Order: sequence, then structure tokens, then C-alpha cells
Amino acid sequence: GRAVAERVASRVLDVPDFPKPGVMFKDLMPLFADGDTFREVIDGIVRHYGRDSFDAVVGIEARGFVVAAAIAYAAGVGVVPVRKAGKLPRVAYSASYALEYGEATLEVHQDAFTAGHRVLVVDDVLATGGTAQATLDLVERAGGTVAGFTVLLELGFLGGRERLAPRAVHALLTV
Ligand code: PRP
Ligand code: MG
Repeated sequence: GRAVAERVASRVLDVPDFPKPGVMFKDLMPLFADGDTFREVIDGIVRHYGRDSFDAVVGIEARGFVVAAAIAYAAGVGVVPVRKAGKLPRVAYSASYALEYGEATLEVHQDAFTAGHRVLVVDDVLATGGTAQATLDLVERAGGTVAGFTVLLELGFLGGRERLAPRAVHALLTV
């Protein structure tokens, strides 16, 4: 509801010029640190999708892990990490996406899902959508079915939602 959204908004701090000049960093650590609000947010996401609408939660390294593990625990399902390149010990699929300078690569274990597994994909922030697009592609290549994609905070002006269309995006808060 609205009260939760307002409490969430007050726990997202604007940090100017981080990690470099001209960038306004959105710091969600105060939200993670507030136990009552964090619990309401997690329970609200599980309610939004419905406890029985997904079989696994994917969290995107690193900040997505915080949210994904909590949602998985609350829903009684497992959590599957999508990791940055070179971190997974067994055979994995890779997907790369462009950054402002250079590119980034994400990976998921090839045996992460059984066929038809319904997967809720979770991250803290949706910005340009590059991270999310690579992750959704990885989930499908590994045999999962995307049940949804959710973030706590969407930076609407960066166009991530449009990039991911026609896939639906659920955001607790959009700025
Ligand atoms: C941040 C954020 C999202 C991503 C969103 O992660 O946590 O995962 O950027 O950006 P995009 O929509 O433009 O792809 P970052 O890559 O900084 O790494 P971290 O989670 O490990 O801090
Ligand atoms: Mg991230």
C-alpha cells in the first residue's frame, strides 16, 4: 500500500557523484537495514505474485542476492544465483551486455532449473535493463520459464522497462 511505498522511498538515499562524477547513486542499504520495512516489502512481493506462482527465485549478483534470498525463504522455494563471470564452479551459460565502457558478463549453471521451472527473477534496481535482459535470457537458455521480473526501484528515465518489453516488470517504486 501507499504507506509502505512512502517508507520505502524515505529509505532510499540519493548519493551524488558516486561511483563517478555526474551519477546520482540510489542507496538501498537503509531499506535493507530496517527490519520491519524490509519484511513488509518482501511479503508484499510474495503476495503480489502469489506463493504458488513460482518454483524458484533467481537473484542477480550482488545486490539482488539480498532481495532474492528473502523472497525465496518467505515463499518456501529455493534460490538460484546468477553470477558475474568466472564465479560459478560448474558448466554455465554466459550472457554479455554493453556497459557505458566495455561489457559485463553474467552466468548461470546449466543445470540450474528443471524444464518448465517457473522462475521469479529479482534485482534491487532496474536502470538501463542490460543486467535484467541478460539474466532473463540466461534463465530461458537454462530451461526455466520466467514467471516474473521484480525490482525494488525502477529508474524510469533510463528506459529499462521499454527495453524488456513485452516482458512485464514489477517495481515497488519508480522514480
Ligand atoms: C546495479 C544494480 C542492478 C544493475 C542495474 O548492479 O544492482 O543489478 O546495476 O543496471 P542496468 O539496469 O543498467 O543493467 P551493479 O552491476 O552495479 O552490481 P552490484 O549489484 O554487484 O552492486
Ligand atoms: Mg546489481
